[in-house]
Amino acid sequence: MSRYVCTPLAGHHDRTRFRCGVPELDDYLRRRAGQDIRRRAAAVFVLSPADEPSRVAGYYTLSAASIVLGDLPKKVAKKLPRYPHVPAVLIGRLARDTEFPGTGKLLLIDALSRSLRHSRDIAAAVILVDAKNDQARTFYSHFGFTSLAGHPRRMFLPMKTVEALLDDRP
Ligand SMILES: CC(C)(COP(=O)(O)OP(=O)(O)OC[C@H]1O[C@@H](n2cnc3c(N)ncnc32)[C@H](O)[C@@H]1OP(=O)(O)O)[C@@H](O)C(=O)NCCC(=O)NCCS
Repeated sequence: MSRYVCTPLAGHHDRTRFRCGVPELDDYLRRRAGQDIRRRAAAVFVLSPADEPSRVAGYYTLSAASIVLGDLPKKVAKKLPRYPHVPAVLIGRLARDTEFPGTGKLLLIDALSRSLRHSRDIAAAVILVDAKNDQARTFYSHFGFTSLAGHPRRMFLPMKTVEALLDDRP
């Protein structure tokens, strides 16, 4: 990660050059990310090479979310508090520029560690992702995310598993 820095999207980032292979995700960064930040719909974080801080190698978004307890598999739900809704963090979008292969993992680990850190101040028991296509589904499965029954694109990972994955228990 020392070759890269991950910072909130800001004016110095060159959004126009970003190409990840999914036009909708390129377009989001160019046209909608700023508005989502202003309206507090999403926080947007950008990964840049440490020696080229204006370049966008990749980005991800985080938002507060919740999930119906009954939507989770029983063996996961029984380890969570018996409230109808479980607090969660949503990684709504995550993409890397085609010129930066291999940075998908860095983006995901940064998103997971940031979410874990913040969940100690504002609790969240689950991480959710929206996998836009089969490639994304396979990528997230690789890190232990499981599809949510009845939600074709949504996948989840318990925060406890994130702790173990990052070996970052309090
Ligand atoms: C999905 C995406 C983020 C993956 O990024 P990447 O840089 O290729 O991923 P990495 O090389 O860091 O992969 C990390 C690990 O996942 C695995 N992996 C990555 N993509 C995979 C895929 N499609 N299928 C299976 N495994 C995959 C890699 O083998 C690697 O494993 P390792 O750590 O054991 O070596 C990237 O392809 C992308 O931005 N795609 C376009 C946008 C998109 O579809 N975003 C998805 C969410 S909306």
